[in-house]
Amino acid sequence: MHFVLLLIAAYLIGSIPFAVVVSRIFGMADPRSYGSGNPGATNVLRSGNKLAAALTLVGDAFKGWLAVWLADSFAPGFGIGAIAAPAAGLAAFFGHLFPVFLGFKGGKGVATAAGVLIGAKGLLGLAVLGVWLGVAFTLRYSSLAALCAALAAPALAYLFDLGPNWITAIAVMSALLVWRHKDNIKRLVAGQESRIGSKKKAG
Ligand code: G3P
Repeated sequence: MHFVLLLIAAYLIGSIPFAVVVSRIFGMADPRSYGSGNPGATNVLRSGNKLAAALTLVGDAFKGWLAVWLADSFAPGFGIGAIAAPAAGLAAFFGHLFPVFLGFKGGKGVATAAGVLIGAKGLLGLAVLGVWLGVAFTLRYSSLAALCAALAAPALAYLFDLGPNWITAIAVMSALLVWRHKDNIKRLVAGQESRIGSKKKAG
């Protein structure tokens, strides 16, 4: 597969907004109209529909994994194996944040990044997921769990010996993920962030 075609395919896959798609299939309100307004699994959970939230999580993670899998499966034949998978993962992550199907206004990238990390190395994905679960279960803030996992991810990638291309791609994903959580950070500092399981109004 040509490198540019691979990146376009990965971006388009990442652009599929599962929060919006799943909500439409379930006949629910658009997640951009309630809660934090974020088209992501955490916000879909605020609707009270756990199955829709779980399907959003799985769909958004799957697209990150799929982009890396496509690169690993079809790009090595073109001699770009070392850079293809991290670049494809990053393209899918960009797709989720800036989806062509939603006027380039997408989500925060947590589930998609998790899928990319699992695609990069299963154990790395599990380790970062462990950080997320540890914070989420003790403090019950999805955003704080994501921020801690994002900060840990590049260091864990280094420890798991993923190499400079992957470490760079993961560091870029982490930086973008933290930036996308700037409103959550303000709410966390102000003590106004909603905990997992609670509901809140848009805005
Ligand atoms: O997965 C996104 C999460 O970290 C925060 O979501 O809806 O609380 O802004 P939300």
